Amino acid sequence: MGTKGREIVGRHAERIVELLNKAFADEWLAYYQYWIGAKIVAGPMKDAVIAELLQHAADELRHADMVCGRIIQLGGTPVTTPARWFDLANCAYEDPADPFVRRILEQNIAGEQCAIAVYHALLEEVHGKDPVTYNLATQILQDEVEHEEDLQALQEDFNVMLRAGA
Ligand SMILES: [Fe+2]
Ligand SMILES: [Fe+2]
Repeated sequence: MGTKGREIVGRHAERIVELLNKAFADEWLAYYQYWIGAKIVAGPMKDAVIAELLQHAADELRHADMVCGRIIQLGGTPVTTPARWFDLANCAYEDPADPFVRRILEQNIAGEQCAIAVYHALLEEVHGKDPVTYNLATQILQDEVEHEEDLQALQEDFNVMLRAGA
């Protein structure tokens, strides 16, 4: 823990660590949801969807790393067991039990929309209190907005393809 770096956040550090640990749980669950989704997805356009999901999974893992680093800087302890991820997470884990492309896309779009809401709320809460976490949440939010766009573009292509084949 860097003492001066933590001092500028002051009494807000504990609450920010709590919020970051919730986001940390979200990132790991998103990572796994996308990673396993890429393994099992089936149906038309599956290769394009696999490529996107694997890219997103890598981004979510990178986000988990970024959030973890900030928790440690603030003197907190990142959640040490996956058993707590479900308790802490803001966003639902969408089990890709149905591997059809359309369903996987819907689930992952819902996940990205939740992530966007989470980081938007985090930005509002840390504004004026913790510029480092603010900057981190801004970077992650940019990725999540891009993820939503990527997935919705695939969904549009999928729908166009279905209509063309009808
Ligand atoms: Fe993420
Ligand atoms: Fe994402």
